[in-house]
Amino acid sequence: MDTQTGFIIGVDTSCDDTSVAVLEERTGCVLSNIVSSQIKIHQGFGGIVPELASRSHMENIAFVFAQALESAGINIQQITRVAVTNTPGLVGCLLVGTGFARALAYQLGVPLHGVNHLEGHLFSPFITEPPLFPCLGLVVSGGHTAFYRIASFEHVTLLGQTVDDAAGEAFDKCAKMLCLGYPGGPVIDQRAGRGDQNAFPFTVARVKMGREYLSFSGLKTAAYHHIRVFGDLSEQTLNNLCASIQKGIVDALMDKAAFFFTRHRFKSFAVSGGVAMNSLLRTRSLEIADRFNVKCCIARPDYCTDNGAMIAHVAHVRQLDDQLFTLGTEATKKIQARKLACKKKQ
Ligand code: KG4
Ligand code: ZN
Repeated sequence: MDTQTGFIIGVDTSCDDTSVAVLEERTGCVLSNIVSSQIKIHQGFGGIVPELASRSHMENIAFVFAQALESAGINIQQITRVAVTNTPGLVGCLLVGTGFARALAYQLGVPLHGVNHLEGHLFSPFITEPPLFPCLGLVVSGGHTAFYRIASFEHVTLLGQTVDDAAGEAFDKCAKMLCLGYPGGPVIDQRAGRGDQNAFPFTVARVKMGREYLSFSGLKTAAYHHIRVFGDLSEQTLNNLCASIQKGIVDALMDKAAFFFTRHRFKSFAVSGGVAMNSLLRTRSLEIADRFNVKCCIARPDYCTDNGAMIAHVAHVRQLDDQLFTLGTEATKKIQARKLACKKKQ
């Protein structure tokens, strides 16, 4: 390790994962990325309980931070910058991360940067692969589903997004109806591998607002009606439903990606967010990139779900101000998806 280089700390406590990462300032190399998941705490409730999430961040953050330093092999004095998610997210959760990060930066006398969580996801494929601009960026997470035109790290334009549920939310809600627990995406993905994806038809919804928008609420209702028809679901029917729901969600995403590829000129396709873990989405993203002759960059699985590395990475690739005395937090998730765009499409 270069002993002269500084280290960026990335903190994310926006939802139900407490994460701290250490990134080497000069090279952008991730030296550690510790994630403490709260899934076990929320599982029994069928979804995230905000108060329990913030309390758990409070209990874990100091330990996760210590582990991140130890695993990176650095000491606290070597930290040169601190980056933290300050929006969007659950406000009580964001306050734990931003409070911790601010105290750390203040104590060390180093700059503090507030990072938009969606920007973290959007650029996360470029932690491991060099970017190729202009790029069509797709962020698919539990709270957001949006397409962006990335002209550079400083120039991002929102192209379109879901008008209702996010893709991850659709996975989670369908899994809940099928009594498969929380989070729903991974279990649906697993069962889909043993099911027939054409057993139940889920058509891609048309949205009145315009072709650039997506909707998943119709799919959720259709899933509900299919499930109601059966009393007890056999294992095979359950697997078939999972495979069909997964295909319905991925079809909607790929239909929109194809729409943007025909409307704009891109050299690459970057897919990120928790749902980018999905095996069918990963395969179909590669296929569509091939079809439109662009490079495909999908976030590495450990950078798909929430993590501190993607937050430190934003501080590495973007010019950010020191916000030690000005950093605030904003809670509204969907509005923030629009605000991410550095140059907005009005
Ligand atoms: O990005 P993320 O960790 O949190 C947010 O910022 O929202 O994404 C979590 C979402 C959950 O909805 C979860 O069900 C989904 O990612 N997810 C998946 C898979 N793994 C996680 N969805 C589909 N297939 C998967 N394999
Ligand atoms: Zn996220």
